[in-house]
Amino acid sequence: MTPIDLRSDTVTRPDAAMRRAMAEAEVGDDVFGDDPTVIRLQERAAELVGKPAALFVPSGCMANLIGVMAQAPAGSEILVGARSHINSAESAAYARLAQVNKCALPEDDRGRLDPAQVRASIHLGAEISGGNSHHATTTLLALENTHNYCGGTALSVADLRAPIAAARERAPWIKVHLDGARIFNAAAVLNVPAREIAALADSVSFCLSKSLGAPAGSLICGSHDLVARGVGLRKMLGGGMRQAGILAAAGLEALKTPNLERLADDHANARRLAEGLAELPGIVADPAGVQTNILFIEYRGRKGDTAWLGRALTERGVWCLALGERLRMVTHRDVTRAQIDAALKLAAGILKD
Ligand SMILES: Cc1ncc(COP(=O)(O)O)c(C=O)c1O
Repeated sequence: MTPIDLRSDTVTRPDAAMRRAMAEAEVGDDVFGDDPTVIRLQERAAELVGKPAALFVPSGCMANLIGVMAQAPAGSEILVGARSHINSAESAAYARLAQVNKCALPEDDRGRLDPAQVRASIHLGAEISGGNSHHATTTLLALENTHNYCGGTALSVADLRAPIAAARERAPWIKVHLDGARIFNAAAVLNVPAREIAALADSVSFCLSKSLGAPAGSLICGSHDLVARGVGLRKMLGGGMRQAGILAAAGLEALKTPNLERLADDHANARRLAEGLAELPGIVADPAGVQTNILFIEYRGRKGDTAWLGRALTERGVWCLALGERLRMVTHRDVTRAQIDAALKLAAGILKD
């Protein structure tokens, strides 16, 4: 059987139209700022998230790092969700490169931060009137939507607005960075344009290579000033690419409206998968909580533990990812409804008494 790869939505292969666009892309040298396809991609990205400017960078990690470094001075503190990608899966970049202190706050199971806790966690350093020399000043709040490790949950505009308002009550200067790696998944399920979600943040990053099918690349979007700083930071971090138009051409295909609209199919497939798995003996899953294309399950049956189930599924061709005590499954455009049904059948076979 051809493997059904549910490890991540990053595993998609560029389709024929994307490969053609890449082969035919008009290119320049993006470090000199004259690659026309990169320029078109940046314009399209900025328009989609309603920001004045956007910068094409190699990865989501770099987009987040640039968003933070461009706005949070070294020696200051940033507030992050404990289970956010920035806090838990971007190596030690914020300590080593951004030189900021991270203050991690627990999210609820839908990825939301508690506004009261955000307000109470703001620190004012000695340089702020009324501040305290024991503290690094809080300069940035980072949010994530959809929230990957909380199960691909989509935070509503109100969910995002509440912690931002709480932070700014005590620290009006606070910048907001939104890790919108999957912002179009959030927009699709919330039924609002991505720009409405992004409007709450000073900077927003998103990925072309998650769900949207491009082989690589992310955008960091914000003001012209932020992007100008971002150009310098990208070069310093080793992310300046030359004939990057070849990748940007794939990105432009990825951002075509029908490709954004089809994300709803991935969400329906994830819900179907969760519903089917929840019926199997020993599986702990929460189908009602599956809003987008990511689901987490555990196994608490007689046959083994969660890691055992992950190995059993993977050996038989349903690839999933063990993350801590849980298994993650992610639907994407290279997985069909028929493959979801095949995966369920296979799981049922493994778990039958
Ligand atoms: C929410 C979130 N942010 C950022 C990233 C980083 O993206 P990349 O792998 O392109 O660096 C990921 C990757 O999975 C992610 O899920």
